[in-house]
Amino acid sequence: MTRTHRDDQRPAPLATDEPLEGHYFVSTYPPFSTWTADRVADAKRMLNRAPTASPDAAFGLYVHIPFCMKRCRYCYYLAYTGRSLEQIDGYLDTLVDELAIYRRSPALAERDLSFVYFGGGTPSLLHERSLARMIDRLQSIMPWSKAKEVTFECAPKTVNECKLRILKDSGVTRLSLGVQIMDDEVLRSNGRVHFVSDVEQAYAEIRKVGFPVVNIDLIVGLIGETDSTFFGSLDRVLGMQPDSVTIYQLEIPHNTPLYAALRCGGLDATPASWEEKRHRLAGAFARLEEHGYHVRSAYAAVRDPVRHPFVYQDAQYHGADLLGLGVSSFSYIDGVHFQNVTSNRAYVEKVRTGSCPIGRAYTLSDDERLVREFVLQLKLGRADAKYFSGKFGVDLRERFRRPLDQLARLGWLSADAQGITVTRVGLLRVDRLLANFYHRCHKNKQHS
Ligand SMILES: C[S@@+](CC[C@H](N)C(=O)[O-])C[C@H]1O[C@@H](n2cnc3c(N)ncnc32)[C@H](O)[C@@H]1O
Ligand code: SF4
Repeated sequence: MTRTHRDDQRPAPLATDEPLEGHYFVSTYPPFSTWTADRVADAKRMLNRAPTASPDAAFGLYVHIPFCMKRCRYCYYLAYTGRSLEQIDGYLDTLVDELAIYRRSPALAERDLSFVYFGGGTPSLLHERSLARMIDRLQSIMPWSKAKEVTFECAPKTVNECKLRILKDSGVTRLSLGVQIMDDEVLRSNGRVHFVSDVEQAYAEIRKVGFPVVNIDLIVGLIGETDSTFFGSLDRVLGMQPDSVTIYQLEIPHNTPLYAALRCGGLDATPASWEEKRHRLAGAFARLEEHGYHVRSAYAAVRDPVRHPFVYQDAQYHGADLLGLGVSSFSYIDGVHFQNVTSNRAYVEKVRTGSCPIGRAYTLSDDERLVREFVLQLKLGRADAKYFSGKFGVDLRERFRRPLDQLARLGWLSADAQGITVTRVGLLRVDRLLANFYHRCHKNKQHS
């Protein structure tokens, strides 16, 4: 078993300023814990009126496929294992019925899709026939022929040429492969079902079928990872020449098997500290840049920012509307956030009776929309002054003077007349900085 530290040197995990456990990644604003069931009526009212956005405003679809072969130790996503083909097909039929409900609503009846994202769970787990049928049925309700980007998440052991051809023929432009690390021992210690040879086989098939953008997801700080296994793995990934490399710093949220093991002392290696993770990520970005990649956000580097965009992320960070389908999915439409119910039984039941399966919602004020876009764009490393004065009528340096001064003194960002630029050391910890810009009532709120 690989060890990064001796067990008797293990730090007390719950008593530091940066605890090892918890969920830090900021997906949106205000934090999810502020969304409530008593606001669901607001979301339904919004769906029942004509959209205020112009018909060509960016609008995306997220489709949640919550099935996996096996649960990874660190995973906090809603995903089920061991479901039969019949159960999975039943869920896919519900997704289609859900989309039909939204298509009938005045707010979404005429909107054209500009981006689509199939995420999970493991969308590539679907059987070929189920995949083709789901895609045909979704497209017959809301076609994505005009979309700039269609992303599909894959996990190595579940990819084959037949599925990839179905995806390519149905307009998928961006494939994202969950690799995490190119080291069999570390993969096994973290409960991944695949090995390095599965990655190599899947990647060769993906390249053979040919997609405009291929992304590889990695995690820094996996249990048992060392500098040597992390950078050795990165070099193997660089050798594969993906168009995009995404590296997430390992989080240990409370609802994961990893957290349970951490609490009861059942881990055979100490998790990397945040400082170690940032150090490795900084080294990874430097190595990616040496190989000609461009750092495009706090998490990703791409070979060519023009040819290898990530529309799903950029559009959302600039206020695009997004409809999320599936159990527990999130949406943001016309300034209203809403999330589907998180129980599959309740989700299926609501859709069966023809109602939107929304469990909690939140209507943003104009100022909350401004803060939302500002903090999300900081995750890309830059907020443009002209964009914010044009869209929201604010001068960023005046609106956020105090936190900007404080964070600039720490060397984490700089502000000038053109906008706000997050420095590299700031980018490595950006999700921890964002709360400094929140409205007082949303500070210290959970992002889950
Ligand atoms: C839904 S998964 C991607 C597809 C597929 N399920 C897989 O794991 O290969 C999205 C990505 O989130 C990242 N991720 C999952 N759990 C994480 C955690 N606890 N900390 C950091 N990143 C995590 C992984 O890099 C993963 O590829
Ligand atoms: S394969 Fe992906 S979604 Fe499934 S359990 Fe692992 S990390 Fe989570």
